[in-house]
Amino acid sequence: MKVFVSYWLPDAPLNALREKHTVVVNEENRVLTAQELVAQLADSDALLCVGSRVDRAVLDAVGPRLKIVANWGVGYNNIDADYAAQKGIMVTNTPDVLTETTADLSWAILMAVARRVVEADAYVRAGQFQGFKPFAMLGADVWGKTLGIIGCGRIGQAVGRRAQGFGMRVLYHNRKPLDKETERALGARYMEIDALLKESDFVSLNVPLTEETLHLIDARRLSLMKPSAFLVNTTRGPVVDEQALLTALLEKQIAGAALDVFEKEPAVTPGLTELPNVVLTPHIGSGSWETRTAMAYVSVRNIIAALEGQPPPNLVNKPICQ
Ligand code: DGY
Repeated sequence: MKVFVSYWLPDAPLNALREKHTVVVNEENRVLTAQELVAQLADSDALLCVGSRVDRAVLDAVGPRLKIVANWGVGYNNIDADYAAQKGIMVTNTPDVLTETTADLSWAILMAVARRVVEADAYVRAGQFQGFKPFAMLGADVWGKTLGIIGCGRIGQAVGRRAQGFGMRVLYHNRKPLDKETERALGARYMEIDALLKESDFVSLNVPLTEETLHLIDARRLSLMKPSAFLVNTTRGPVVDEQALLTALLEKQIAGAALDVFEKEPAVTPGLTELPNVVLTPHIGSGSWETRTAMAYVSVRNIIAALEGQPPPNLVNKPICQ
C-alpha cells in the first residue's frame, strides 16, 4: 500500500513503514499546496500528515483508497476530523510523547520573558556590557509567584508540576475540574477563567484550539490581567486575539508575553516584533530531536495498525464504515 509523508521525517521511524508499504516522502523543504497534496493522495492509502491542512476541499478531492490521516502532532485543528469521519477516514494524533518537552518550552519562554534573557543576550552581543550595573536589566521574580494554567490536560499539568520547584501557587481552569487527587498532587486550585486572570502573575495557555477556544484571550480578558503579569502561549495562536494582545502590551495593561505560536502563522502581527518585553519562538514547543522523532514513531504505529485493519492507538474521530 502507498503511504504519503507530507514533509521530511528522519529515516529511522519511517523504516518500519518501509518494511510493509511503499513510502513516498515530500522531499521539498516546504509544506505542499493543497493541489500538490491532493495529487499525491489520489492513489494513497495513508497520509502521514506533517503540517499540512486537510480540510473539506482536500478530503473531497482525495482518492477512494485513503483510510487514515495520521497527524504528526497532538493538535489536529489542521484536519477536519469530523468530515473525515463522515468519509470513513480515520484521523490520529501523537499525544503523550511530547508532553514534557512542550512543558519545558513553556517554562523556557516564561523564564526568558520574566528575566529578560533575550534582551540581555542582545545587550551583551552588541558590546553594551561595560561592567556590572546593580540596577540594569532587572526582570520579574518567578519563584513564589502565582501561575494560572488555562487548559489543564496533559501539557497543562506538566507545566504545573514544574511550578512546584519554583514554590509557586498554582491556579488552573479546565473544561472539567481535575479529580481531587490530581489537584492535590499538583497543588493546584480550580478557578473560573476571569478570576484566574485577575490573580495570576503568569498565565500559561494550554487549551486545544476549537470553536470554543478561538480568541479565548481577547481584549476584555487581557484587561483583567495585572499590569505586572505575563502571558505565555505554546498551544495554538488563534487562542489569543493577537491584535488585542499588541494593544494590551502597548498600553501596558500587562507586563509582557512569550509566544511560541501565532494567530496567522507564519505571520506575526506587525508591532509585536518591535517590543522588547515579548519573546517570540517559531512553534518549537515539541522541538527536541528526541521528541519530534518519537512523534514520527507514534504516527507510524497508527498507520501500520490502520492498514492492518486494527484500531489505531490514537484515533481521534469515529469514522463511519463505508
Ligand atoms: C503539536 O504537536 O500539536 C505541535 O504543535 C506540532 O504541530
